[in-house]
Amino acid sequence: MTEKIKWNHKDLVSLEPLSKEELIYILETAKSFEEVLKRDVKKVPTLRGKSVLTLFYEPSTRTRTSFEMAAKILSADTINISTSASSVSKGETLLDTVKNLEAMSIDAIIIRHSFSGAAEFLSKRVKASVINGGDGRHEHPTQALLDILTIWEYKNILSGLKIAIVGDILHSRVARSNLIALKKLGNEVRFVGPATFIPETFRELGAEIYYNLEEGLYDADVVMALRIQKERMGSGFYPTEREYARCFSINKNSINFAKKDAIIMHPGPVNRGLEITSDVLDDKRCVVLDQVTKGVAVRMAVLYLLLTGGKVEN
Ligand code: CP
Repeated sequence: MTEKIKWNHKDLVSLEPLSKEELIYILETAKSFEEVLKRDVKKVPTLRGKSVLTLFYEPSTRTRTSFEMAAKILSADTINISTSASSVSKGETLLDTVKNLEAMSIDAIIIRHSFSGAAEFLSKRVKASVINGGDGRHEHPTQALLDILTIWEYKNILSGLKIAIVGDILHSRVARSNLIALKKLGNEVRFVGPATFIPETFRELGAEIYYNLEEGLYDADVVMALRIQKERMGSGFYPTEREYARCFSINKNSINFAKKDAIIMHPGPVNRGLEITSDVLDDKRCVVLDQVTKGVAVRMAVLYLLLTGGKVEN
């Protein structure tokens, strides 16, 4: 365990401002919370008296549920706003919505929004801690943290790994957050997919770029397939789904290009048969559901650090 460090971040909008030590501190805190999740009674008083709001302008199954679970296990009160059933549908702005909710003494807001920059915008305007649950194509920091916690469990190391992230990189906030954190920790990150999904400029972010699946997966320790985000794109990114799957799907043949003990990941939700096949999802090297489990521990750690500064015994 690293020395307990002084935590002085109000928000978690991006992984960019975090040091390598701070990333490891979040992961180690999450590991300590995994023990709580194995107990018969999954409840600790750490955040008693705190209120946590989830405000999602886009659909979610995993992120929203696991944040709610995390907050409840830490004894915080939780409020979930469905934007379609709120005054957002009457035209209330994001800032007015959040200011009104904050007036009810909210301590943390988890926001998901299609606008890249929504979480940053709010973080500068409210006293509550703002946690980015995914903003447009920008970042999804807690997804990357749970991905890395999963990699740590299976590979026992946090650096020196070759990680191939395959698919719709262009629209992926998961790819961006993973790239930032995995590079800070000292890993090789490869973006693999068609040129339409990986502009050359992405090299400047520190990723190696491969437009050929076999080359991109060669010797990889981790293969992370990404969802094709049909809702964020028009036509012209690939000829047909069949053609895309033939060239870039993670299937029982293409996975053999990676190391024999490579783990197979996907942030979900999955387009089965497009970016990854059902038989690979059933393969024993596939850790997709472990990622989901780790999401609760990571989100407990993030809520705990932001709302207590790590000063309360967990
Ligand atoms: N991975 C992820 O963000 O899943 P949800 O969209 O279901 O939250």
